[in-house]
Amino acid sequence: MALEEFQAAPRVIQTIDALRLFVTQQRQLGKRLGLVPTMGALHAGHLSLVKKSNEECDVTIVTIFVNPTQFAPHEDLDKYPRTLTQDLKLLAELHVSAVFVPSVEQIYPEDFSTFVDPPSVALPMEGQSRPDHFRGVATVVLKLFNLAQADVAYFGQKDYQQCLVIQRMVKDLGLPIAIEICPIVREPDGLAMSSRNRYLSSEERTQALAISRAIEGARQMVDAGEVDCSRLQCMMRSVMEQAGITRIEYACVAHPETLSQLDAIEDAAIALIAAHVGKTRLIDNCVLK
Ligand code: PAF
Repeated sequence: MALEEFQAAPRVIQTIDALRLFVTQQRQLGKRLGLVPTMGALHAGHLSLVKKSNEECDVTIVTIFVNPTQFAPHEDLDKYPRTLTQDLKLLAELHVSAVFVPSVEQIYPEDFSTFVDPPSVALPMEGQSRPDHFRGVATVVLKLFNLAQADVAYFGQKDYQQCLVIQRMVKDLGLPIAIEICPIVREPDGLAMSSRNRYLSSEERTQALAISRAIEGARQMVDAGEVDCSRLQCMMRSVMEQAGITRIEYACVAHPETLSQLDAIEDAAIALIAAHVGKTRLIDNCVLK
């Protein structure tokens, strides 16, 4: 279906000039603007961000852009699910005001060479496995913030380290936008919702459940008084290994603000996992304390 067929509701905006015009008009009307940046292939997790923005803002702008600079050459940029027709239908049901769907050329014009050097919280975990990932994320998010001039931007806790990177960038650069982090939305059986879940075969889908089981197991052990992080990490690894997940990138317990790995839990901690199920890389996390 052609994009033009969606011009009524939500309004589909494809160029930076058109977005600026829309934003200027809304600001002149005194509207409070909420921004939900996404890469599309929307699921209930994304929709929870949209609902939150709708509750708190007069106008919600959703962006759909599969950002090439956050993918390494060997990653899934080409096969990343693109489901624009379905996405626009879901957003229409939520009465979203505008959806910004730029081309790569709009975001990265010829000779583009300005990047954000992300803060140090980008270095561990995802930063080890995906060294340039947060450089691409921070760059596109800063650009989207500049273009949308929103009062609030909404992100999901599933990408926990991404949230920390964006919060730090906003603080360090004094950006005039509030960041809201919304809880992880899970399937009824516990699997954290992700656009990449659709890559999983039914066998892999069952195997992937070990990731949320491991995370939940850590939470239960901490609730029962466990403070030793190596025991928590061993448990998380063994739950996944027993399910046949062998490519575990990390399964660790860290400080929720700095992401430095902990030996023992004192006041605050988060469990984070990244693991491959078949060819699909999945992440999950849970604040333990
Ligand atoms: O979380 C995502 O979908 C992406 O990393 C984001 C924030 C839209 C930037 O491309």
